[in-house]
Amino acid sequence: MHTNYLVIGSGVAGLTFSVKIAEKFPDRTVTIITKSSEEESNTKYAQGGVAVVLNSEKDSFNKHIKDTLIAGDGLCSPSVVEMVVKEGPKRLEELINWGANFDFDTSGNLDLGKEGGHSESRVAHHKDITGFEIERALLTRAHQLQNISIFPHHFAIDLITNHHLKEAKPIKDACYGAYVLDQKTESIFTIKADRTVLASGGIGWVYGHTTNPVIATGDGIAMAYRAKAKISDMEFVQFHPTAMYNAMGNQSAFLISEAVRGFGAYLRNKAGERFMPKYSEQAELASRDIVSQSIDSELKKTGDTHVFLDCTHLDMVAFKKHFPNIYQKCKAHNINLETDWIPVVPASHYLCGGINVDKHGKTSVANLFACGECTRTGLHGANRLASNSLLEALVYAHNIFKYLCDDSLKAIDLKIPEWNDEGTITPKEHILIQHNLHQLQALMRNYVGIVRSNNRLTKAVKHLDLIYNEVEDLYKESKICTPLCELRNMINVAHLIINQSLERKENKGGYFNVDNVKKQTRF
Ligand code: FAD
Ligand code: SIN
Repeated sequence: MHTNYLVIGSGVAGLTFSVKIAEKFPDRTVTIITKSSEEESNTKYAQGGVAVVLNSEKDSFNKHIKDTLIAGDGLCSPSVVEMVVKEGPKRLEELINWGANFDFDTSGNLDLGKEGGHSESRVAHHKDITGFEIERALLTRAHQLQNISIFPHHFAIDLITNHHLKEAKPIKDACYGAYVLDQKTESIFTIKADRTVLASGGIGWVYGHTTNPVIATGDGIAMAYRAKAKISDMEFVQFHPTAMYNAMGNQSAFLISEAVRGFGAYLRNKAGERFMPKYSEQAELASRDIVSQSIDSELKKTGDTHVFLDCTHLDMVAFKKHFPNIYQKCKAHNINLETDWIPVVPASHYLCGGINVDKHGKTSVANLFACGECTRTGLHGANRLASNSLLEALVYAHNIFKYLCDDSLKAIDLKIPEWNDEGTITPKEHILIQHNLHQLQALMRNYVGIVRSNNRLTKAVKHLDLIYNEVEDLYKESKICTPLCELRNMINVAHLIINQSLERKENKGGYFNVDNVKKQTRF
C-alpha cells in the first residue's frame, strides 16, 4: 500500500502530528501503525502532567529555561530549550482545544503542580492521570478525521531504505516507508510512504524493572540505527526515584508521581530517617537524577531493598482530590496513606537520548522524521526535567508539521521488493526468546544501572555479544514474530547504551560511573 505520511506510534507524539497534518491537508493520507491497542503507550500512563509557564506573576520563561538547563547538567542545547519552553503555552492551548481536560483552581486558573527541579509550580495536569486524558482526547480527534487510518496490532519490523532496493538508489540514505507485520494474520506487507515519522516511544523494558508498559522496547531507535541514522546520548537513561516496590523487581512497576513529593511527601529510609536533606539543599525536590542516585547510595549503605515515601503528614482530603489513582492503587496494596509509608525504589523510566533530530524533527536519513521519546533533540541534556517530555513531544510534532506544510510531497516512483522470508520456519521453542530476554534485562539491571563502572560495562559488552549472536541466528532462520523482533531491537538499544556509556568520561546528570572519580561531583 502507499500513503503520504506513515506514522509509527500512537502516543502523544504520533497522534499530535497526525491530527495536525490531516487537518491541514484533507486530501492527503495519514497512516498510523501501532503495535498494541491504539491507546497503549507510555503516554497513557503519564501522571504528573505537562510543564508550561502560565502564571506570569510568579513564573517566567527564563525560570523554566534555567531549571531545564540546570537539570540537564550542562549538556542541553540552550537554543532548543528556549524554543521548546516558549512554544509550551501555545501547544497546551491547542491540546485543550482538541478536548483534553485539565484541572482548574477555585479562581478559574489552571491548577499547577510542582515537581522535582522546578523552581515554580508549573505542571498542568488532569488529576494524576494526565497522559490517559491526553491520549483519549487525541484519539477522539484522530477518529474524526477521514484521512487518518489507524492500524492497531501492526508492528513495524524495519524501515525501507536503500539497502532493500535492487535498482539504482535515487537518494543517499533515504527512507521509503516500512515493512509491517499484521499481528493478527501474521502476514507482512509493505507500506510505501512519501514521508515517515517515527513516534515509537521509549526503551524501559530493556531493563525489565521499569515504570513503562511492555511496549517500550526501543523499536524505533533500533530501526533508525539499522537505517544508519545518527543516535546519541543513549547513556542517559533516567531512573525515576519512586516506583512502587515489588519483591519481584523485574516487572512494570506502578509509578508514584514526582508531584507527590511536590505536594510535600518525604523520603525515609527503613530506620525512619528523612535522608534527602543530607544529599541536596532541595531535599526531596532535587532533580530526579540526584534523588535516584541518593536512594541508590542509601540502599547500598543499608543493604535494604527499598526506601519509603511518607505521606502521613499531608492533607488527605486534598491528596485524594489531586491523586485519586495513586490513592486507590495504594489502597489496593493494603497501604493506608494516613498511617503507612509507601515502599519505593528507583526504576528505569525515560530515555533522554535517542535518534538525533534537528529543530524540524528531521533525522539524518532523508524523508525520515522523528518526535517524542525516541528522539534526542537537545532539550534534556544529561537529565530530563520532570514533565518536560509531554511538552517536547507536543512541540516537535508541531515542528515537523510546520516543516512539512511547505513540502511539495513529490513521491518517488520506486519498485520496493516485498519482504522475503523464504527458507524461514516458525520458531518452535519460544523459550529461547524468553530466556535471552530475561538474560538481557538482568544484564542491564545489574551491569548498566544507576551507578556504573568500567569493569561492569566491559563485562556487559561480552555478555551482550553472546546474547546477540544467539538471537541473530534465531532471527535468520525464523519466521518473523513480534517477541523476536522486539528482543532483537532491545539488543541493539542495549548495545548503544553500553557503548555510549563507555565513551562518556565525565559524570553528568543521570550518568554516574564510579571510575570517573576525578570529575565526580556528587557522591
Ligand atoms: P509513547 O507514548 O510511548 O508511544 C509510542 C507508540 O509507538 C506506542 O503506540 C507504541 O505501541 C508504538 N510503537 C512502538 N514500537 C512500535 C513498532 N515497532 N511498530 C508499531 N508501533 C510501535 N512525561 C511528562 O512529561 N509528564 C509526566 O507526567 C509523565 N509521567 C510519566 C509516567 C509514566 C508511568 C511513564 C511511563 C512516563 C511518563 N512520562 C511523563 C513520560 C512520557 O509519558 C513519555 O515520554 C511520552 O508519553 C512519550 O510519548 P511518545 O508519543 O513519544 O511515545
Ligand atoms: C511523574 O509524574 O513523576 C512523572 C513525570 C515525568 O516523568 O515527567
